[in-house]
Amino acid sequence: TDPSILRNFCIIAHIDHGKSTLADRMLQATGVLTPREMKNQYLDRMDIERERGITIKSQAVRMPWEVEGTAYALNMIDTPGHVDFTYEVSRSLAACEGALLLVDAAQGIEAQTLANLYLAMENELTIIPVLNKIDLPAAQPEKYAEELGNLIGVDPEDVLRVSGKTGEGVEELLDRIVRDLPAPQGNADAPPRAMIFDSVYDSYRGVVTYVRVVDGNLKPRQKIAMMSTGADHELLEIGVISPEPKPTDGLGVGEVGYLITGVKDVRQSRVGDTVTDARRPAAENLGGYEDPKPMVFSGLFPIDGSDYPILRDALDKLKLNDAALVYEPENSAALGFGFRVGFLGLLHLEIVRERLEREFNLDLISTAPNVIYDIVAEDGSSMRVTNPSEFPEGKISVIEEPMVACTVIVPSEFIGSVMELCQSRRGQMGGMDYLSQERVELRYRMPLAEIVFDFFDQLKSRTKGYASLDWKLDGTQEADLVKVDILLQGERVDAFSAVTHRDNAYSYGTAMATKLRQLIPRQQYEVPIQAAIGSRVIARETIRAIRKDVLSKCYGGDISRKRKLLEKQKEGKKRMKMVGRVEVPQEAFIAALSSG
Ligand code: GTP
Repeated sequence: TDPSILRNFCIIAHIDHGKSTLADRMLQATGVLTPREMKNQYLDRMDIERERGITIKSQAVRMPWEVEGTAYALNMIDTPGHVDFTYEVSRSLAACEGALLLVDAAQGIEAQTLANLYLAMENELTIIPVLNKIDLPAAQPEKYAEELGNLIGVDPEDVLRVSGKTGEGVEELLDRIVRDLPAPQGNADAPPRAMIFDSVYDSYRGVVTYVRVVDGNLKPRQKIAMMSTGADHELLEIGVISPEPKPTDGLGVGEVGYLITGVKDVRQSRVGDTVTDARRPAAENLGGYEDPKPMVFSGLFPIDGSDYPILRDALDKLKLNDAALVYEPENSAALGFGFRVGFLGLLHLEIVRERLEREFNLDLISTAPNVIYDIVAEDGSSMRVTNPSEFPEGKISVIEEPMVACTVIVPSEFIGSVMELCQSRRGQMGGMDYLSQERVELRYRMPLAEIVFDFFDQLKSRTKGYASLDWKLDGTQEADLVKVDILLQGERVDAFSAVTHRDNAYSYGTAMATKLRQLIPRQQYEVPIQAAIGSRVIARETIRAIRKDVLSKCYGGDISRKRKLLEKQKEGKKRMKMVGRVEVPQEAFIAALSSG
């Protein structure tokens, strides 16, 4: 295909601003989908995505569109919408020349839209501003056209107005894509270079890899190589999606499509990597490749210990489709056998957990999530810790924790409560801008650990749901962090150790100790519950002893009743965990961890 008739674009939008609906409408307007074929939200394939209304995996669709007698091919690349997947977003953007900046005409710009807009600008994409949902009675197209115009420096008159619901404005939008976006450029005669912007495991075909060809061309049966690893594979099939995969005789400069090599694991075909010809390799890769970096860690344990092998197999299966998922076995005195799992962020954690529970029928308990800590001990040795239980016992000279740059957009009446929240989470203010008279963008630098807990929920509840949040990693910073242990009769309960800021250690310790006192049944003797930093106890609760044992109820009773009681007690013991001399029902640990 002649690159001059190609246009590659993506849609940048906040969740619920109507990206999927508009995408469907474009597929229909270009005849790629007939109304009969059209299922709602064609691009969102996974059930969970549909239910949660988020897009995790990007896809690309090719659509024909004619302008003034010339037949063009438009490639629409779907970008994931959530902060946890920023790297995938950046690769989808890198595969495009342009982006539609889609904004709900009743809501205006949100933080995520802004963050992705900045990413698109860094990638030098041409931006087409679009207001969606203009059919809504609450739409305020004039107001938000002004907001958008100010933001990207265009005349508000040039902001397109569409409705994904009624189809209004969609044909003009397709024309604008052809007219405003540059055609891709590349060297057709050079050794091939194609960037992988997505990679999806399919149980029938193995890994399906989505690529954007930059130079040269790729053909079926060609021997290709992945430039980050040097591994080579035979190209079994190559083609375009429109809307189903259609094999072609190759992909040339500027084209977007899929390829299949028969590999079975997305780790062999990584997002961001460059595909080249194994026999005539390109000298340089396309740049921008990064290994996925798990940032949030949590222990996952089956509630029923005999499910452990199912959990292990389930993680192995999920890994085929998720290059960012890492895990290793973990053994906890309180929770039994499980895994220490690393995630890109909290949403990634929730998605994985939900898939494990839903698709593999597992009941799981997870420990409080924590981040990565870089520690330098007093003797100068350094280590990286992803599990509080690995925290060194000796003296520590420096601890660094990961930081994020956060953007919050709120109506101006909530500025005070947002600032208060961010400060209470050790945030340093970076700046503040008015997007319009009543909407403000606040920028903070904050420890990642402070936002992985309930920051977003807190933010929403303090702003009546109006705030939007985005963040990206922003280096590390030294912090005064300590490990708080919870001890039952002097024995440490591993699953409850947590790393907190020194100022929060006391409140964490007291909260946990109180919770456990309420949940753990009384024993034959008094059981102290302590929270401690190293050997220093910072909080203490006591479970008082019961006066009499069960058998005392049976004074004078017959022996068979006595035996029955003993049997019963034995049964109960199966679900008991021993912490030192103390018997604790597993339910107590689970309840203490789930009540947050
Ligand atoms: P994510 O996939 O979660 O990012 O959402 P999305 O941006 O793809 O939004 P989606 O297309 O799922 O639309 C969100 C909601 O807005 C749905 O309830 C749609 O029916 C509705 N919607 C989308 N476009 C329009 C529109 O033009 N007009 C009206 N009235 N409603 C719309």
